[in-house]
Amino acid sequence: MALSTLTELAGKETLQASFVRDEDERPKVAYNQFSDEIPVISLAGINDVGEKREEICQKIVEACENWGIFQVVDHGVDTKLISEMTRLAREFFALPAEDKLRFDMSGGKKGGFIVSSHLQGETVQDWREIVTYFSYPIKSRDYSRWPDMPDGWIEVTKEYSDKLMGLACKLLEVLSEAMGLEKEALSKACVEMDQKVVVNFYPKCPQPDLTLGLKRHTDPGTITLLLQDQVGGLQATRDNGNTWITVQPIEGAFVVNLGDHGHYLSNGRFKNADHQAVVNSDCSRLSIATFQNPAPDATVYPLKIREGEKPILEEPITFAEMYRRKMSQDLELAMLKKLAK
Ligand code: SIN
Ligand code: FE2
Repeated sequence: MALSTLTELAGKETLQASFVRDEDERPKVAYNQFSDEIPVISLAGINDVGEKREEICQKIVEACENWGIFQVVDHGVDTKLISEMTRLAREFFALPAEDKLRFDMSGGKKGGFIVSSHLQGETVQDWREIVTYFSYPIKSRDYSRWPDMPDGWIEVTKEYSDKLMGLACKLLEVLSEAMGLEKEALSKACVEMDQKVVVNFYPKCPQPDLTLGLKRHTDPGTITLLLQDQVGGLQATRDNGNTWITVQPIEGAFVVNLGDHGHYLSNGRFKNADHQAVVNSDCSRLSIATFQNPAPDATVYPLKIREGEKPILEEPITFAEMYRRKMSQDLELAMLKKLAK
């Protein structure tokens, strides 16, 4: 069956086979069984000089060392901008399939709408619809790929992307200083910072226990800021990846997670958080992930190797090469799994 959008499948009683995951990949914890273990950090006072700033920075650094994932509140991004961005995104996904498919990004187009995503060669699909914006560097913006429905979404997305770039850079300054480096060290290591805004829509799912909205992964880039609605579905791990916990949604908060690039540059001191998104049969869910990545030819290698430590990478590689290796490793694992069946 040709799949145009997930809306057609959401109303069915059973899940289409292409979304059914192997038992070991299926959700272990319910989408709404929330845990408050992930640190929540208020950034009020982060721009001041003195003890308050020190205290906030210390919390951020500890969260990166222990989890690689945490939430920030009082982050300075206007709540009106956040609710506008969310409202417009929800309205877009509620449009008829043909309107959404006007922005179809399949075939390697630079941004737009797509149903689900799965690695090449992998057979199981994620239960989500996506809109992707290539937003930084500015020259990478192709506004013809930015949905012009609903009215005003382009302007709101521009502002959202700028504000989130500012917040991401502020957090990277804290981490650079914690490594004993100049404030701009991590941003500079990205050469020309790349940003992608990915809006995820997870429709209601007929058999959510058999599938995932987004399979387990670490983000490849430097730092990700995720906005989620109040439904719940983002899960992270603890106990060396053995226990899943569902992140408690907090209105207006951003979930921050460190990616592989941030992990390597800190020589493993900061964790790259493993996470996934689960879906449910009660209601749809919206999340907006804003990824800050290095330029493809930026060098990936620890910026700081502490005394007694070994570098976690054998040699400097480009970010494009780091990404290629990650993808081929994932593909290899998927192939081995298929063969073992
Ligand atoms: C992501 O990892 O990019 C999105 C996760 C979520 O939707 O909660
Ligand atoms: Fe992610």
